[in-house]
Amino acid sequence: MTAAHPSAPAAQPAAAPSAPASTAKLWGGRFSEGTDALVEAFSESVSFDQRLWRQDIAGSTAHARMLGKVGVLKADDVEAIVAGLASIRAEIEAGRFEWQLALEDVHMNIESRLTALIGDAGKRLHTARSRNDQVATDIRLYVRDAIDELVAVIEELAEALLDLAEREADSIMPGFTHMQVAQPVTFGHHMLAWREQVLRDRARLLDARRRTNVLPLGSAALAGTVYPIDRPFVAEQLGFDSVSENSLDAVSDRDFAIEFVAACAMTMLHLSRWSEELILWCTPMFGFVKLPDRYCTGSSIMPQKKNPDVPELVRGKTGRVVGDLNTLLVLMKGQPLAYNRDNQEDKPPIFDAHDTVSASLRLFAAMLPSVEVQRATCRAAAFKGYSTATDLADYLVKKGLPFRDAHHAVGSAVGHAVAKGCDLSELSLEELRGFSPLITADVFEVLTLDGSVNARNHWGGTAPAQVRAAIARARARR
Ligand code: ARG
Repeated sequence: MTAAHPSAPAAQPAAAPSAPASTAKLWGGRFSEGTDALVEAFSESVSFDQRLWRQDIAGSTAHARMLGKVGVLKADDVEAIVAGLASIRAEIEAGRFEWQLALEDVHMNIESRLTALIGDAGKRLHTARSRNDQVATDIRLYVRDAIDELVAVIEELAEALLDLAEREADSIMPGFTHMQVAQPVTFGHHMLAWREQVLRDRARLLDARRRTNVLPLGSAALAGTVYPIDRPFVAEQLGFDSVSENSLDAVSDRDFAIEFVAACAMTMLHLSRWSEELILWCTPMFGFVKLPDRYCTGSSIMPQKKNPDVPELVRGKTGRVVGDLNTLLVLMKGQPLAYNRDNQEDKPPIFDAHDTVSASLRLFAAMLPSVEVQRATCRAAAFKGYSTATDLADYLVKKGLPFRDAHHAVGSAVGHAVAKGCDLSELSLEELRGFSPLITADVFEVLTLDGSVNARNHWGGTAPAQVRAAIARARARR
């Protein structure tokens, strides 16, 4: 088979790659028969890696300019390549590019089209590189851009949480441990807890970005290239912070992608935990919040239903992203140096993790500002669960009782109140004094919900004043 290029296709409306049985391969020189159709279908990646077209064109443009700069390519070849790549970009943007399965991947589809458009100059583009360093470059550019996108959405979400925390700084709800009412907290404090989680997710993404933003191009297939390449020049054009140190490592490892997807999985884990809370909170049994109708759906049979589908799906989709991480970890574990075709399988999990976490974050950022907090219900729930019992124990400690004895005395008082079916604050002073003579009339201040939250008035505590202080610190930091 000769290494002929397919002729320039006319303007196409095509979207999905077409599959002619035996398009000549760009690597076909040493082969005496065409690829088996099953192999072609099995090994193609263009159906999913065409998504890297922007990165591929950017990488090729930078590579061509560099080859011109160092004198490997003539100036008019470079010009033709750069212009040809620009018109391919326009074709793809307009949906006129015909992706061909037989051309395997995004790289060969674009290169083949380039040669169809500009002739021999197109065939010179692949000088001093390999698809191995090309794809490693594309995927690093993709992950870097994905990180920047997710970081921006997380910042939007963190802002929404800050506003919600401010709105609900004084609203009291039960805090839970073991899913049992533990101590009263402010709703604002709870929102700021969520915010801390995504801020760490943001930090993890940015940390992964540092190790992602390193240029592999120039590593060629695995050992480097015989041409006098200028890698820092390419890095600068593509916005990479540095140039990879070792060609074998640069074409083969996908640890940066694993870190990225791990950060995505952690982000989803957080969103999933929030989802679980929201789903509980909007049941009639809790009734802490109302989700806006536009973020819920109904049932085809039960007319009364308003289901919290968004948080349910976020919780469900978390499994996918954890699966994506697992896919990448297992993909990498058996690979000797250097590039192996296994790595082609890195893209679906990377794209899926990115898409899923991006959509989930966007939905939360959009939905949270219109969540209606049912303040009276939250407060009543905190009142019901003896959530100020610890406050009574601390009150007795302040009056000189050892904490263990105070704990025991309050436990007895709670038992008494449970039997009577009332709250601690509803017991009379005489009844309370029956559990400890140290109790005096000022006890009722500490038994109230407001007294309880206001007393936790230190950096990181739940007091409304501290919620406001935390919000002020967050706003000053921006
Ligand atoms: N589609 C391939 C990938 O994603 C490109 C690199 C192929 N390299 C090769 N030597 N076959 O990994």
